[in-house]
Amino acid sequence: MRAVRFDHYGDVDVLDVVEVDKPEPGPGQVLVAVKAAGINPGETKIRAGELHERWPATFPEGQGSDLAGIVDSVGTGVTAFAVGDEVLGYTNNRASQAEFVLVASEEIVAKPPLLDWPRAGAMFVVGTSAYALVRSAEVSADDVVLVSAAAGGVGSLTAQWARNLGATVVGLARPVNHEWLRGYGILPVDYTGAGLPERVRQALDGRQVTAVLDTHGPEYVQLGLDLGVNPQRIATIADFAAGDRGAKLVQHFTVASPRVLTEIADELASGHLKMPIAATYPLSDVRDAYRELEQGHTRGKIVLLL
Ligand SMILES: NC(=O)c1ccc[n+]([C@@H]2O[C@H](COP(=O)([O-])OP(=O)(O)OC[C@H]3O[C@@H](n4cnc5c(N)ncnc54)[C@H](OP(=O)(O)O)[C@@H]3O)[C@@H](O)[C@H]2O)c1
Repeated sequence: MRAVRFDHYGDVDVLDVVEVDKPEPGPGQVLVAVKAAGINPGETKIRAGELHERWPATFPEGQGSDLAGIVDSVGTGVTAFAVGDEVLGYTNNRASQAEFVLVASEEIVAKPPLLDWPRAGAMFVVGTSAYALVRSAEVSADDVVLVSAAAGGVGSLTAQWARNLGATVVGLARPVNHEWLRGYGILPVDYTGAGLPERVRQALDGRQVTAVLDTHGPEYVQLGLDLGVNPQRIATIADFAAGDRGAKLVQHFTVASPRVLTEIADELASGHLKMPIAATYPLSDVRDAYRELEQGHTRGKIVLLL
């Protein structure tokens, strides 16, 4: 089968699509024929060696945790899935960017029929991140929530989720994304240039921000503090040192469970949450897919299709 591999840290050009042995499911495992696999900035950081201390690569290394596909075979003891089932979920083995991927049966759930392959295959990392952020800050209808990178993969779902809970939501984005954000009832504010705290205050007409859900980096944890937000209500997925300032670092994988995957999939299938698909690429063009992602201005998701 074909699979993405790289054998040393580097830029996108270290990525290759190579022939490897098709795996066989062991006890409790399911082999999924992949139809779609989302790509995420964390994979770029691992491939570049930036996370070597925290999450080292072992070469030759594969890539990808997001996946959706069709059950190809099941190992002994698997009763929840049968050959031909349409599923979505994840692997923790950096392996979903391939024609087939082995998963534990609790790492997948049934794909709702109304959820298309690209969204099903791009759901895991961004969906669980948004879910974890919103719950970490215990967002309610009484809140005024600021979401950074509000048009990005995680940010777009996070902002919608907070809005669906009834909160007033300010979404930070470049002007090109403002109309799209307004369409979801989110107040857009341009993050570029000086004077961001003042622009946020102006957009809110005197109301105080009560929670920050950061999907970009430390400067937005600081923005929350500058805006007078209680640090315990500043949650970030992109600042490993957030705890030093009393804010909360949230890791998406801590909420991964069949129940949460099903809840997110149902939100997307019902249309309560919308996931824009910025681009799709065939597996063979994996380098181009990451070149686009690494420009840093994706609206929604980029997905590999097989
Ligand atoms: N800890 C975890 O569990 C976890 C999980 C998932 C992701 N992450 C991390 O979270 C971050 C976001 O992931 P993602 O998948 O959402 O990324 P993404 O989709 O690539 O984010 C793209 C968005 O970032 C915005 N952006 C670019 N530069 C910005 C800036 N200087 N200030 C504010 N926004 C800016 C862009 O907005 P404009 O186009 O409007 O400029 C774009 O919408 C990444 O660092 C990723 O590694 C962590």
